[in-house]
Amino acid sequence: MNETSATPTTRPGHAPRAEICPRCEDGLLITVETTHEVTVEGSLVRIPRVRADECRTCGYRSLSGREARLIEVLFTSSYDRITDLVADLRSAGYRSMFLREDRTETGLGFGSSESVESLAGDLRELYLDNETSHVLDGLQAAAGLVSLDVAGQVHRLALPKLGEGENGTVFNYDGRPELVFKVAKPRPYCRDHLLGENEMTEFFAGQGVPVPRIRQSDRFGRFVVKDRLAGKSLAVIYDHLGAPDSPRHELVRDAVRQFIDRLLDLFVRHPGSKVSVSPNNIFVVESAGACECLLVDTGLAPFHDYSSFTFDEYWDETVPQKIRRYREVGYIESDHDDAPASQAKGDPPQPR
Ligand SMILES: Nc1ncnc2c1ncn2[C@@H]1O[C@H](COP(=O)(O)OP(=O)(O)O)[C@@H](O)[C@H]1O
Ligand SMILES: [Mg+2]
Ligand SMILES: [Zn+2]
Repeated sequence: MNETSATPTTRPGHAPRAEICPRCEDGLLITVETTHEVTVEGSLVRIPRVRADECRTCGYRSLSGREARLIEVLFTSSYDRITDLVADLRSAGYRSMFLREDRTETGLGFGSSESVESLAGDLRELYLDNETSHVLDGLQAAAGLVSLDVAGQVHRLALPKLGEGENGTVFNYDGRPELVFKVAKPRPYCRDHLLGENEMTEFFAGQGVPVPRIRQSDRFGRFVVKDRLAGKSLAVIYDHLGAPDSPRHELVRDAVRQFIDRLLDLFVRHPGSKVSVSPNNIFVVESAGACECLLVDTGLAPFHDYSSFTFDEYWDETVPQKIRRYREVGYIESDHDDAPASQAKGDPPQPR
């Protein structure tokens, strides 16, 4: 990709909103305009003015699936060399963005693995980015139910989102409080994260780390269906813990400290298991004066460096800083006070 211009994506009231870099989980992504090259059956197709996301902190760069309507660009382009590609897509049933012959009544969904499989390398990633971008656009409403078609199987999701992180957006099911549906953000990195999540879950469970079980997954990492955890993320409860010397604050801090110590020890013994201990990834279940921590996100974070990690700095500085950042980009919203999962499982109500 060749950069031609750069603009920050942090423009309040404008889409798309800012995003945190999924790789370093530190920098904010900015939008750059670039020329993108796709190889189609051996010939190079150059697409001008494609939007990409870039992190100035770690150098991560990826096409901006949210905005790059690349298949539309291909369809309306007058480039000669694209003709064959368009013909291929048409014969594969693509009429325009996701308006396929086998389109379902909802129009919102993920295509079958076979249809994705039929697209070659570069084009497949573009398709997957665009498909997810379209799905997430359809899941933006502040309330309501949405039917999402996954290769013929309908998932009834309830809006608004339950949670969001750097790699995915998570939704509740309608009438199935024990499950959540996580959609990977429209980037190869994020789909890889979900694939890793799927692979690592059993490892963590086997090591005695409580994690949500995976009930269904996608071979391209587009989504995953998981058990919904009881409790709330540290990012959501941290500001409600009271003064640092209050019993509740101390109880939760000690539990999180022990949990993170255990994880860091695991990362040393099994370097391939390094995940992010961000406050979004740690769930806290409080009941009757006890406190248990769970790992909600088992997706790998290979770029994280824990060599100089200290818990006090984490608790006093990193966590509040991360929470501010999550609020800024809309990952945490104010309406997170419900906890249907714990109630559904008959757990006692959590202290406030
Ligand atoms: N299994 C789950 N049960 C309850 N809430 C969840 C679950 N999975 C995700 N969430 C919510 O969504 C947020 C983001 O999920 P996460 O898996 O960490 O996404 P990412 O991979 O983008 O970091 C979590 O902090 C949490 O609030
Ligand atoms: Mg996470
Ligand atoms: Zn980065």
